[in-house]
Amino acid sequence: MVKAQVYIYSNPFDGFPKPGDLTIIEEDLRPLLDGEYLAEAHYLSVDPYMRGYAPGFKVGTPLIGGQVALIRESKNPNFPEGKYCFGQFGWRSYTIANGVYDRSTAVNMQYVLPDFKGLSPSLGLGVLGMPGNTAYFGVEEICRPKVGDTVVITGAAGAVGSHVGQIAKLKGCNVIGITGSDDKGKWLCNELKFDSFINYKTQDFKKTLKQIAQDGVDCYFDNVGGEISSIIINQMNSFGKIAVCGSISAYNEKQAKASVIQGPVTLQQLRMEGFLVTRWNNRWGEGINKNLQWVQEGKIKYRETITDGFENMFQAFTDMLKGVNYGKSIVRVKSLIK
Ligand SMILES: NC(=O)c1ccc[n+]([C@@H]2O[C@H](COP(=O)([O-])OP(=O)(O)OC[C@H]3O[C@@H](n4cnc5c(N)ncnc54)[C@H](OP(=O)(O)O)[C@@H]3O)[C@@H](O)[C@H]2O)c1
Repeated sequence: MVKAQVYIYSNPFDGFPKPGDLTIIEEDLRPLLDGEYLAEAHYLSVDPYMRGYAPGFKVGTPLIGGQVALIRESKNPNFPEGKYCFGQFGWRSYTIANGVYDRSTAVNMQYVLPDFKGLSPSLGLGVLGMPGNTAYFGVEEICRPKVGDTVVITGAAGAVGSHVGQIAKLKGCNVIGITGSDDKGKWLCNELKFDSFINYKTQDFKKTLKQIAQDGVDCYFDNVGGEISSIIINQMNSFGKIAVCGSISAYNEKQAKASVIQGPVTLQQLRMEGFLVTRWNNRWGEGINKNLQWVQEGKIKYRETITDGFENMFQAFTDMLKGVNYGKSIVRVKSLIK
């Protein structure tokens, strides 16, 4: 009999998540029924949305999340044994799944990974998965920057942000990344070819942005919300565009505050649009294929911050919320350590 380990949301997050808010339990898994398959988690994702959505979680339920899993056993021909799949299975070591997935909501999203041409299947959680598609569709469908535009990205050294900036560079834009450390900023400029960066933790943000973006900001890809976003929006050019992807600066706050932005939005006639990547569920493969092509051509670089051990998922999660990660934060199960 297979035993699964599962993280349970046992104590509601109050501010920053604390050890003890989650508990690991063991489940005995029953034999497979027709149409089902057994997925063994190899790489698990930790993402900001797991904190952002927490007010809606029920105490006593498993933590939500995506993973790349090896199909160990199968009674479903669409999910053959020995293949890797992506599954929105939660923080679990083993899962019995049935391949049924509602494309309109993305609940229970699951698919066999396409051929990654020899690249690690873990990329199915990052550059060749949900964050990669967020960057691809966010830039192509929401920002739509033009050659020469100045594009500002917050959360710039993370999974989504680092990818967005590189796509904007491919489109001939002047790209400014906002991040919380000089070392991350140097990585963005030296390796990913961003034009400049601002460390929002140490620099006079308003003044430095004015100096760097002398001709104003045309597009803003907003991953963080809060006061930093208000300052950027106040420095935007007429008919500028704002893609609202997330607001991580507020996820752990009980009462987040930021200056009013309706002034510049009206005066500069800005277009601000929020989006969920699941809007493009029916074009999911297009995003993965385009990102894979760019990676193979050396046009998009990626980085993974890997934590080893399923039992260290909470640590990986809080490290990501604190900004320890460069690129995509993932957890690798111990059996894969060489
Ligand atoms: N709309 C969608 O469909 C969608 C899909 C995926 C992700 N998202 C959103 O996109 C954003 C980025 O997600 P991701 O997966 O790529 O995460 P990520 O950027 O890889 O990791 C989170 C990063 O946020 C930064 N951060 C933490 N606290 C902050 C604060 N108070 N102010 C500013 N930055 C802070 C940290 O970097 P620093 O060291 O630079 O502070 C940290 O590394 C999140 O808001 C997420 O919710 C939205």
